[in-house]
Amino acid sequence: MKAARRPKKGMTIILYGKGGIGKTTVSSHLAAHFARSGKRVLLLGCDPKADTSTRFLSGRRPPTIIDMVGGRVEKKFEDLLTRTEAGVDVMETGGPEPGVGCGGRGVATLCQFLEGHGLELSGYDVTIFDVLGDLVCGGFVAPLRFGSGNCLFIVSSEEAASLFAANNIARMAARPFGPPISAGGLILNLRDNSAPRRALAEFAARLHIPIAGVIARDKVITEAEEKGQTVISYAPRSRAAAQFAAVAAAIAKRVAAPAGKAITPMSNEAFWAFIRARRMSSL
Ligand SMILES: Nc1ncnc2c1ncn2[C@@H]1O[C@H](COP(=O)(O)OP(=O)(O)OP(=O)(O)O)[C@@H](O)[C@H]1O
Ligand SMILES: [Mg+2]
Repeated sequence: MKAARRPKKGMTIILYGKGGIGKTTVSSHLAAHFARSGKRVLLLGCDPKADTSTRFLSGRRPPTIIDMVGGRVEKKFEDLLTRTEAGVDVMETGGPEPGVGCGGRGVATLCQFLEGHGLELSGYDVTIFDVLGDLVCGGFVAPLRFGSGNCLFIVSSEEAASLFAANNIARMAARPFGPPISAGGLILNLRDNSAPRRALAEFAARLHIPIAGVIARDKVITEAEEKGQTVISYAPRSRAAAQFAAVAAAIAKRVAAPAGKAITPMSNEAFWAFIRARRMSSL
């Protein structure tokens, strides 16, 4: 028989965003920051590449949920949880070989296992899902739909294609099925540090998604990545580490007091009109 559900203690934050925009960078830095602040952190990679945990495992690829359900490793669900030196527990859904099978299935399976094992309820202060943003199938929506009080964050740069993906993600979140989804915020991971902030603030206001913080493009992030680290351990006094700390603080605030207003995504036509009116397509 299933154990009785205990009330969830910690916060669950779910990051979506366009491919390559910095979801894994942001989620692993937030995880490292929260762990360094003494929180119990669970970081869940929901990407067939299984690279969310890279900065915590010296590049080693852990056995994944898909490996387990596909019979490629003889492990139980609990054994897929790896405790790392940084104090972050990590788990990866993994995925099928390119062109075969369905990556979203791994994500949906992870959520089923989490429910079954009560893992999301078992004392983590912070649980972070690093998910894809090009929402190719419903499986990738599963983290938003399981449990309750999960908070959606979108990682985007100032580029039109990335904002387009952000608007699509907002549209997915605004769909009226399942438990209501709180729009935690937009995390701006800039490509160009001189990007016009006013237009980005207008975009966020139009969607009713608050800006949860800004991360500048910074070579210290690349240097840390090359060493298999986050800037939280590699350069704790850097501007980048301070920016991740500020985003983490904003996230904690948003989760404690979610936005009252419903997300209001734009139609594709309205989106492109918005972008053109602000000359953002040329960014
Ligand atoms: N603010 C930044 N400054 C410098 N480099 C960055 C920054 N953000 C991300 N990067 C670099 O950009 C690359 C892509 O980032 P990342 O892997 O986090 O993106 P992603 O959204 O997770 O991609 P995918 O969709 O493929 O999973 C990485 O090499 C990362 O180090
Ligand atoms: Mg990634």
